[in-house]
Amino acid sequence: MRILLLAHAFNGLTQRLWCALGERGHELSLELDIGDEVTREAVALFAPDLVIAPYLRRALPEDVWRRVPCLVVHPGPPGDRGPAALDWAILERRACWGVTVLQADGQFDAGPVHASATFPMREASKASLYRDEVATSAVRAVLEAVARLETRQPPPAAGPAPAPGVGWRGVLAKRDRAVDWARHGTDEVLRRLRSGDSAPGVLDSILGIPAFLYDAHAGPRLERARPGEWICRSPGALLRATVDGSVWIGHARRDEAGAFKLPVPLACPESAALAELSSQPVAVRSSVPDPIAYREEGAVGFLRFAFYNGAMSTGDCRGLAAALGAAAARPTRVLVLEGGREFWSNGIHLNVIEAAASPADESWRNIEAIDDVAEAIVRMSGKLTVAAVGGNAGAGGAFLALAADRVWVRPGVVLNLHYRNMGNLYGSELWTYTLPRRVGTGADALMRARQPLLGSQALARGLADAAFGSSFEEFSAEVASRAHAIASSADFERRLAERDARRAADERVRPLSAYRAAELAEMRRSFYGFDTSYHVARHRFVHKAPHSWTPRHLARHRGTAPG
Ligand code: COA
Repeated sequence: MRILLLAHAFNGLTQRLWCALGERGHELSLELDIGDEVTREAVALFAPDLVIAPYLRRALPEDVWRRVPCLVVHPGPPGDRGPAALDWAILERRACWGVTVLQADGQFDAGPVHASATFPMREASKASLYRDEVATSAVRAVLEAVARLETRQPPPAAGPAPAPGVGWRGVLAKRDRAVDWARHGTDEVLRRLRSGDSAPGVLDSILGIPAFLYDAHAGPRLERARPGEWICRSPGALLRATVDGSVWIGHARRDEAGAFKLPVPLACPESAALAELSSQPVAVRSSVPDPIAYREEGAVGFLRFAFYNGAMSTGDCRGLAAALGAAAARPTRVLVLEGGREFWSNGIHLNVIEAAASPADESWRNIEAIDDVAEAIVRMSGKLTVAAVGGNAGAGGAFLALAADRVWVRPGVVLNLHYRNMGNLYGSELWTYTLPRRVGTGADALMRARQPLLGSQALARGLADAAFGSSFEEFSAEVASRAHAIASSADFERRLAERDARRAADERVRPLSAYRAAELAEMRRSFYGFDTSYHVARHRFVHKAPHSWTPRHLARHRGTAPG
């Protein structure tokens, strides 16, 4: 079928559908929802059989849905309607939630239901659920609906019965999720913060400064703390007392024009006035949320690095490089690099860079620090490394995975193995060494195409070595069992020796330091040179500047993409 995707942004869910529909041979084009006239023009140019709207923030123009069947993805079960479905589901403690694919008509989310899927809710932020369970269910339901339309079957006559207790739920007002620190316990505070994470956040204040709060984690019970009192600071979070315990807050956005989300010590430097962690009891010190965690099971080490949004600042990269150093010294045979659940990694931290006194200098420090991580992975001796990519990965974060000896992916994750979308960045993380090793001369075309790939597609193109696991839990369990199998295999020493011999041979042909220096010379031009495209693109990305046109490599109805 000729399918036009219409979306507010080319977000993770839209990318996943784009890949899944493309994989099934449908002819696709995409238009960002910029204005009704642009949508009409796209429909006229592409003449689609079907329009799919995976992520829209406003209604489709009537003349469009009257002319072409338009399927809308709603992140709620049949019968649920409204613009804040998932937010309400979290606030109302739903045990089970769903996704519905319905046909657009004159009423918001009330057209004929073409397909739906359900999933059990998890204690997690809205964005985490959206990127995993919602996206997986949406793909399943959309593919079912499209298959039915393709064979000209009508939608199920009666449609599924509405889930109990669902119906129209309007916009969620700030007061609906506001925290009452004098009344709410930790569980309720976490729920409210998670319902607004990653957007719009919960409007509150930090030491009297109005700010949106994100990235909340449970802290310990406190002696003699006043509910709502800010207790102390760790390097990456602030602790605040609740009625029955406490919560750590990792990220914030000041409620000021032009402000953007940052790690809380940067968003609110005034928090330096709070007590230091070292002055706190051990229960507090041991509860600090740490995105980096190492554990060992026999001969296998597992290194988790679950950075918020997958963004890795200079400090994060240095912490990770130190953890890699410590893991390298352990008597294990296999090291599994787990990344985070929502994102394995998204590369250098564009928000922290944007906030720096000199974004160019901070970009430079950050790229050097992430390159140190890539180099530590490539140079790891005495053990085999596995990148276990169970969450999405983009740009430098996706290439970081290629530094490992083996890359295992979840089939449904979305990988953006290219840099150009960020102001034509050349990229580093040793990609000029690791990518051609896997795809040979196909590396250039891959970088130019700027297309997302599903994990299953990455496997088919040789960018990954295995793809398995439908849920994150299934994936993690199989990663562990495969890693143990490698560690205990009779030919482990032979495999290690082969890897070392290949690395040594590569080093003789061209040292790793030469790859890194050549990449960094290009990056230096982007950071400090005459062409400011990267700085402009980063500024627009961080400030979430609205799109004014759809990139040509996606809007295929507007002609071929230049190079
Ligand atoms: N630095 C800072 N924040 C980042 C980030 C980065 N490198 N990559 C993603 N994020 C943030 C986004 O701003 C967004 O924040 P919010 O939800 O808190 O508002 C969140 O992570 C999710 O990103 P989003 O773009 O909504 O996710 P997606 O799944 O739709 O798209 C990417 C994923 C990777 C395609 C997209 O985030 C991207 O292009 N990131 C930039 C990657 C990059 O250029 N890195 C630097 C070069 S190495």
